[in-house]
Amino acid sequence: MTKALEGIKIIDFTHVQAGPACTQLLAWYGADVIKVERPGSGDVTRNQLRDIPDADALYFTMLNSNKRSLTLNTKTPEGKEVLEKLIRTSDVMVENFGPGALDRMGFSWDRILELNPKMILASVKGFSEGHHYDDLKVYENVAQCAGGAASTTGWWDGPPTVSAAALGDSNTGMHLAIGILTALRQRDVTGKGQKVACSMQDSVLNLCRVKLRDQQRLDRLGYLEEYPQYPHGEFSDVVPRGGNAGGGGQPGWVLKCKGWENDDNAYIYFTIQGHAWAPICDAIGKPEWKEDPEYKTAAARQPHIEEIYAEIEKWLADKTKFEAVDILRKFDIPCAPVLSMKELAADKSLRESGTIVEVAHKKRGKYLTVGSPIKFSEMDIEVTGSPLLGEHTDEVLAELGYSDDRIAAMHEADAV
Ligand code: COA
Repeated sequence: MTKALEGIKIIDFTHVQAGPACTQLLAWYGADVIKVERPGSGDVTRNQLRDIPDADALYFTMLNSNKRSLTLNTKTPEGKEVLEKLIRTSDVMVENFGPGALDRMGFSWDRILELNPKMILASVKGFSEGHHYDDLKVYENVAQCAGGAASTTGWWDGPPTVSAAALGDSNTGMHLAIGILTALRQRDVTGKGQKVACSMQDSVLNLCRVKLRDQQRLDRLGYLEEYPQYPHGEFSDVVPRGGNAGGGGQPGWVLKCKGWENDDNAYIYFTIQGHAWAPICDAIGKPEWKEDPEYKTAAARQPHIEEIYAEIEKWLADKTKFEAVDILRKFDIPCAPVLSMKELAADKSLRESGTIVEVAHKKRGKYLTVGSPIKFSEMDIEVTGSPLLGEHTDEVLAELGYSDDRIAAMHEADAV
């Protein structure tokens, strides 16, 4: 089966997580992704938080599958020459260096366009160009704070809190991948390349859209009816942290199940969707609440919401999270068990769908990674191990037309 992006050549000048997550996705879908790394050290994540001495860290292997690795010192004349050749023969260059690094290396956008007018240059930065913070270097949690996620996550009586989900890194990479595919499509029509840029702040804010919705509602009304602060608590003039409250139009909360005293994840997320109220009452053995004017409508329930959750927890007390969901699914109630990483790693359905995959690596042996979350009916996705540092250097140089002698000389000069 052919892959959708076969024939697209990508210079992967990325490191850490945001850029590599983007290019890994494109590699799964068939692009030839050549990861350009500094000789000797490579992407810093190869060494970060190693669990096996002398083998690339999982941080690296889980973000760089299906790629080739070319070592290149782009600050040497030979390295620059190779990069120029690569630019002339590639479709896309993806980078997430600190602000100005590419220019300092001698590869400004004007220079890249001169070398290849069809080039798509895709960049991740912490802040967008022209932003008053556009000189800052940024990592994940910095972006979550700058993009509105931290101020709206956590408990109202606690500090701003970051999410474990990589909203700043991998999420920005996914946005960039959409930008690259869009630019490729436009190039099909115009024949011209372009610059595609995603900032981590913008990408986090894009996922916090409903919190900007809430700010405007709060400005107008002075309260937010679905937040735990309503109707008994106080609102200031900024969107508060809502704990585990549902962010949409229906209340929800994380509720204890059997065993919560000893198991940190013996919980379910329970949603009180308006039209599911009658089934909820039946499921939890409170049929009298169905017609009770104190409980019948969402507005009537809101002052009692904690009492309702407490009642549901009583019902959950003798059921594991899995037993509870198996009952509630029969009543069509939106809910799920809170799953630990250990449970997700072993989940049969995720293994079967290829979302959790076991991959072979030359040094590590087998490791688990998250495969493509996007499934296609006309394309099989095979996740392969990440490359060793410089594993494909000679191969890529030969493809660019370099002779064996020239390649040997470049190794000698530490340019590759
Ligand atoms: N050969 C020679 N030099 C290379 C090279 C190569 N193959 N690859 C990188 N370099 C150089 C760069 O040219 C740069 O040199 P300069 O600063 O002298 O001009 C240098 O390595 C460091 O680059 P930088 O990206 O600034 O690294 P850093 O470790 O100081 O910062 C980040 C790391 C992630 C904070 C920064 O890259 C950043 O803010 N990136 C944008 C946002 C982002 O993606 N954040 C991380 C998300 S996971």
